[in-house]
Amino acid sequence: MNPIIVANWKMNPQTLKGAFELTKAVRKGVRSANANVVLCPPYVFIPQLLAAKNMEIGAQNCSWQEQGPLTGEVSPRQLKDLGCSYVILGHSERKKELGETLAMVQRKVAAALTAKLRVILCVESVAELRTLKKKVRSFKNVAVVYEPSFAISTQGGRRVAPRHIAAMVSRLKKVAGRNVPVLYGGSVDAKSMRDIMTKGNVQGALVGAASLKAKEFIALVKNAL
Ligand code: PGA
Repeated sequence: MNPIIVANWKMNPQTLKGAFELTKAVRKGVRSANANVVLCPPYVFIPQLLAAKNMEIGAQNCSWQEQGPLTGEVSPRQLKDLGCSYVILGHSERKKELGETLAMVQRKVAAALTAKLRVILCVESVAELRTLKKKVRSFKNVAVVYEPSFAISTQGGRRVAPRHIAAMVSRLKKVAGRNVPVLYGGSVDAKSMRDIMTKGNVQGALVGAASLKAKEFIALVKNAL
């Protein structure tokens, strides 16, 4: 299986021009790589990047509802209709900063799968995954990300030993299913990628800060192969 490398741009860059430039550089650099590279820009850039840049594009969030009166929300169906293929759900920043609960994440996962999006599902523990699984019938189009918040670059960036990651991967697979890809997230950069892939036994990574620098990100993708 090709590694899945998901770029989580968060609330960056600040201009459409910046988003175009980053996408163009990444596309050129990873063109021949045997990896599923998914760029997840802020919602506002998605239509233009989809139209012009010929890369897999995902969103960083979606609503749990298909339609209706939810001011400021974007439905999974709208994302699918635009041409998005993936959505990141359950990110710890949304839980901590925006009050997103596991019950909300459960509903979002179900809605995204119904809309035929692939879900990049972030968890910090096996217990969280167990809770989420209760309401999600199939993990067929789900990739689980083990992303402890203390490892995220803006929250301390603590290094997690690859053997600890490997142990978590096997525990998470016991809950999600053997064939469900498990990725790692938290300060992954070009230098750490190879060890995380090989010794951490993951099928890819969710990348924040390092995905905003084209050169670094391209090197990271190559080190995942
Ligand atoms: P980081 O972010 O790579 O900057 O730690 C990862 C994430 O929050 O998804």
